[in-house]
Amino acid sequence: MRADILILGADELLTLDKQAGFSPVRGKDMGKPVIVTDGAVAIEGNRIVACGRTDDVLKDAEIHPGTTIIDACGKLVLPGFVDAHTHSCFVGTREDEFELRNSGVSYMEIAKRGGGINRSVEFVRRATFDELLDATLSHLDTMLEHGTTTVEVKSGYGLSAESEVKMLEVIKEADRLHPIDIVPTFLGAHEIPPEFAGRKRDYLDLVINEMLPKVKREALARFVDIFCEEGVFDIEDSRRYLESAKALGFGLKLHADEMASLGGAELAAEVGAVSADHLVAISDRGIETLASSNTIPVLLPGTTFFLGLRNNAPARKLIEAGAPVAIATDFNPGSNFCPSIPITLTLACVNLKMTAAEAITAATINAAFAIGKGNEVGSITVGKKADILILDIPNHRMLPYRYGVNPVLKVIKSGEVVVDFEGM
Ligand code: NIG
Ligand code: FE
Repeated sequence: MRADILILGADELLTLDKQAGFSPVRGKDMGKPVIVTDGAVAIEGNRIVACGRTDDVLKDAEIHPGTTIIDACGKLVLPGFVDAHTHSCFVGTREDEFELRNSGVSYMEIAKRGGGINRSVEFVRRATFDELLDATLSHLDTMLEHGTTTVEVKSGYGLSAESEVKMLEVIKEADRLHPIDIVPTFLGAHEIPPEFAGRKRDYLDLVINEMLPKVKREALARFVDIFCEEGVFDIEDSRRYLESAKALGFGLKLHADEMASLGGAELAAEVGAVSADHLVAISDRGIETLASSNTIPVLLPGTTFFLGLRNNAPARKLIEAGAPVAIATDFNPGSNFCPSIPITLTLACVNLKMTAAEAITAATINAAFAIGKGNEVGSITVGKKADILILDIPNHRMLPYRYGVNPVLKVIKSGEVVVDFEGM
């Protein structure tokens, strides 16, 4: 086959396509990825056309004058990271809240005092389309430099029909302009906006009766999400919202069981959600229910760390129960201002007690399935999109181990080298 890009001689090639790349990796299989030594990948156009041992790939590869050859000797090659849960469309920052939390005030207490999500809502409502777009593109630049090639981005800082649509249109334009592929999620049920204070039901009616149909008509989101949490939307609110969204044809996601154990995980499985996210307070019953469903648990160790919480999501229990665990950054201006998957991998190892192999599986193939993209990205599989990272480390165990510095040497997105730190 014709090769436009050939990556050769990688110390380790992690394909992550254990089950032929077309299903999430469950339970203990997460810790056993196929590792090819002296690995190679061939790319034609925007697709992967071969991968395996360098000798084998070279036998079939047709090199032409325009072929780019990348020597990956001493390097780790793996699929581009998929960040399955982010709030990357925002302007304005909340570093004062970070300080308040570190002095002992909780995230929910700050929200009650008028801070939190509604602070960002104020910033986003005031921002023009272009201001919001510029900020979003700059967040995406940072993510791409740290190896993220596909990202889910939620609305949820508009909380009015007009501002939610503005956010989703910005997200759509960012997807068009930026190399990173974006999966858009409508999160109108993120918080109760100030003008609806004490009238949660009325706000949810507006979201369900006005916003959902409008977002559907204008094809602005693939998934919907809700903040199911004590003091925000309860299980009954969430069920009503998710059932309405399902009837309109949206895929479903939930912020579930983050602070309080409300049964969000069980609800996610009941309504057939593609993912249940956070899960720090998931019950043992929730773990069993999720493990025997097709809903993917998305764990966000950066958020737990940044909020200074002592409890962590029970990653080990979920993996031992056979669930296909994913991890993501939750990048947002409040509960986690960190867009880096490499650092999230370290936190998954240190705080969730995952192995390097499990964490990498969680941030690639399983994350891709958590946003409905598992058949296109998330593994180095012939036929999938050529989203590939060349990291300046010799093996996958080094990835979470050598933390706080960017391991990325090159990022290939859709068959193009879009980040190249070589020689810099
Ligand atoms: O996932 N919990 C709700 N949403 C975000 C926080 C958003 C914010 O604080 O701005 C989260 O942690
Ligand atoms: Fe979130």
